[in-house]
Amino acid sequence: LVRPLVLAIESSCDETAAAIVDGEGNLLSDVVASQIDFHSRFGGVVPEIASRKHIEAICGVCDECLDVAAQRLGMPRLTWADLDGVGVTYAPGLVGALVVGVAFAKGAAWAADKPLVGVNHLEGHLYANKIGAPDFAPPAVVSLVSGGNTMLVHMRDWGDYRVLGATIDDAVGEAFDKVAKALGLGYPGGPVVSAQGAKGNPEAIAFPRAMMHSGDMRFSLSGLKTAVVTYINNERAAGRPLNMPDICASFEAAVVDVQVKKAEMALRQTGAPTFCLGGGVAANPVLRAAYEKLCAKLHVRLVMPPLSACGDNAGMIALVALDRFRQGKFYGLETDAQAHADL
Ligand code: KG4
Repeated sequence: LVRPLVLAIESSCDETAAAIVDGEGNLLSDVVASQIDFHSRFGGVVPEIASRKHIEAICGVCDECLDVAAQRLGMPRLTWADLDGVGVTYAPGLVGALVVGVAFAKGAAWAADKPLVGVNHLEGHLYANKIGAPDFAPPAVVSLVSGGNTMLVHMRDWGDYRVLGATIDDAVGEAFDKVAKALGLGYPGGPVVSAQGAKGNPEAIAFPRAMMHSGDMRFSLSGLKTAVVTYINNERAAGRPLNMPDICASFEAAVVDVQVKKAEMALRQTGAPTFCLGGGVAANPVLRAAYEKLCAKLHVRLVMPPLSACGDNAGMIALVALDRFRQGKFYGLETDAQAHADL
């Protein structure tokens, strides 16, 4: 057993998660309870439901997390008293969802008399690249693409981040979700649109590549979503059957073209030797393949989190918490959940 042992909790959106990391950065357990089934019938995450489900799940998720780690360590049992610290995502996210994790972590840390560490969820996504590539280290450019965020970040060092550009309207994941909704494919949209797209022709429909030539690293996704919805409405009005695979493939191509163009700009401008990804959309196979091509062309190392670590998880939060713990950057019981926070 290599100390410190840190248990971290993540509850910023619709996943209740807990993970334990040891002093060498090994994840001894990484438990995620997804609420997707409860939200999908509403076509998106319902904040009130998310909060309630976190309350229902959090004790069980933490118990399971401790049990799995005990098994890994060959111990009969692991309790809060055996830990050296507690980490928790405090921002950004749905505030009512965050509050559950934060209150629980504060209570557990106080009761077990362990130090508490607050973690920025976005920084967690950067650290997710260590899962699967333990030697991953800055300097790097990171593309953060999720349901709530779309940005390119220059990671100059651990804890030293500069946002090179971000979306001025919708996030990429949001665009996938809205297109899926318009096609009646359900929620979340990413995986279904991606599965349909794999059977289609990406050149079938010329959807707009917004801000492709803006000369900066900002993104805009709302126009693309509107273009897809308008196309669908026009096809329906004309009585033509929808070619789902072609629509999905063409939409994905429009998204990926802009992402790749701006990633290239970021890599050339910063000279960073490594490119990496984070967020739910980083699981998209077309995007991953396009980045493989780009990085081979630029002779840049590509690090991609394993598919399980792209979306929200507590493993990435535990890795940040471990660093904070080592730096002695502890948080007091006044720590509160925040809806918004910069990297
Ligand atoms: O990081 P994440 O789990 O949490 C939030 O930001 O909420 O990202 C979820 C987002 C959703 O919008 C989902 O549609 C998208 O990631 N997503 C994908 C894929 N898998 C999930 N988008 C494109 N392709 C995928 N394979």
